[in-house]
Amino acid sequence: MTTYIPGFGNHVSTEAVPGALPIGRNSPQRPAFGLYAEQVSGTAFTAPRHENRRSWLYRMRPTAEHPPFVRYDGAPRFALGGVDAPLPPNRLRWDPLALPEDGVDLVDGMTTMLANGDPADLEGVALHVYAANRDMTDRVFFDADGELLFVPEHGRLELVTELGRIEIAPGQIALVPRGIRFRALLPDGAARGYIAENHGSLFRLPDLGPIGANGLANPRDFETPSAWFEDRDTPTQVIQKFMGTLWTTTLDHSPLDVVAWHGNLAPWRYDLSRFNTINTVSFDHPDPSIFTLLTSPSDVPGRANADFVIFPPRWMVAEGTFRPPWFHRNVMSEAMGLITGAYDAKAEGFRPGGISLHNLMSGHGPDLASWKGASEADLTPHKIDGTMAFMLESCWPYAPTRFALDHAQLDYDAVWRDFPKAVLP
Ligand SMILES: [Fe+2]
Repeated sequence: MTTYIPGFGNHVSTEAVPGALPIGRNSPQRPAFGLYAEQVSGTAFTAPRHENRRSWLYRMRPTAEHPPFVRYDGAPRFALGGVDAPLPPNRLRWDPLALPEDGVDLVDGMTTMLANGDPADLEGVALHVYAANRDMTDRVFFDADGELLFVPEHGRLELVTELGRIEIAPGQIALVPRGIRFRALLPDGAARGYIAENHGSLFRLPDLGPIGANGLANPRDFETPSAWFEDRDTPTQVIQKFMGTLWTTTLDHSPLDVVAWHGNLAPWRYDLSRFNTINTVSFDHPDPSIFTLLTSPSDVPGRANADFVIFPPRWMVAEGTFRPPWFHRNVMSEAMGLITGAYDAKAEGFRPGGISLHNLMSGHGPDLASWKGASEADLTPHKIDGTMAFMLESCWPYAPTRFALDHAQLDYDAVWRDFPKAVLP
C-alpha cells in the first residue's frame, strides 16, 4: 500500500509484473508485452492542474471491447428513483436492515435509502445500505454515476478493484472512484454497511483554517493498493449503474486485468481510529464541522455537496455548559449512520446499521433522555468511548426511496416529546 491523498492527487506508480509500467522515454501510450494503455479521467481533461485527476491503466484487453449493455433485473432495492409525491418534511429514522438468509452478494444486497440530485446533473449524493452474505465471484460492478465511499458496520469487506485489492473492517472506510470495476468479497461470510455514492466533485480532505497544517484526517494515513490483476478467461458479468438504473453485459474474461497503473485517480482506504479529533477545551460545543473527514464541495464556497463527518471516541472536558450537540435547525440536510456503540445525543432507537434523516430546517437535537442526563450531569472530564457515528451532510435535501418510507420507524417524533416548559422568574 502507498500513501494517496484524497483530493490532492499525489502521483502513484505501481506494477504487478516487472517492466509493465512504461518509464523514462518509453512512451506511456505504447507499453510492453502487448498491454493496452487506457486513461481513466476523474475530472475533465481541462480541469486546473491542482484539481486534475486521471490514471493510466495498462491492461490485457481494452475496456472498450464489450457487447451492448441491457437492463439488469436483479438488485430489486438498488438504484430506485424517488417517490412521486411531495417530499414530507418529517424527521425519519430506520432500524438496521436484516442480513439476507439466502446467498446474496453486495450488488444484489444493496438497498438505496436516501438520494438527492439527479446523477445526470453531476451533483448530489445517495446513501445506500448493503447487506450481503456471498462473494461476487464471476461478476464485477462499476458505478458511472459517482464514486463510492464504503463504510462497513458488520463484517470485513475485500474490494478487488482494477487498481488493486483493499480490505476493510468496521472502523475503516474505503473509496472506489467513479467507473472503476470491482468485485466485493466477504471474508467473514456476512457483511453489512453503508455506501455513500457521490455524484458531485470528488471527496477531498477539507481545508483546516485556523487549526493549522495538522489534525483531523492526516494525509499520510490514506492508503492506495499496489497493482494486482487476474488472468482469467471465463465468462464475467459486468453490472453498471448508469443514470440511476442498472445495466449488464457479459465478457469472456475478467476485466480486472490491469497489470500496472500510474496516476492520481485511485481507490484508497482509511482507518477511522487515526482521525485526530479536535474539540473544545473550555466551554460549549463547536459546530459539528469540526469533525469533517472529507468534503465534496459544491459551486458555492463553504456549502458542501456532501461532507462526510465522523463522531469518534473523545474526551469531553467542557465546563459550565451543555455538552451534547445542541438543538438546531440547519439549512444543510443531515443523514446519519452508526458504525458501533451509541451516539451521545440519542439514548436509544439509533442502532448500529440504522439511519436517521433530518432534512433542512427540521428541528432536532438531543432526545429527552439525553437532554435530561446532560443537563443534570456533573461536568467532570468524561470519555465518550466505544462509539463511531457518521453524518453525510448535504446542501441538497434528501428524498427517501419508497422502500425507505415504507420501513421507517413509527413515531420517531416521540423522542422529542414532553420537554418541560421553561420557568420564567
Ligand atoms: Fe444535526
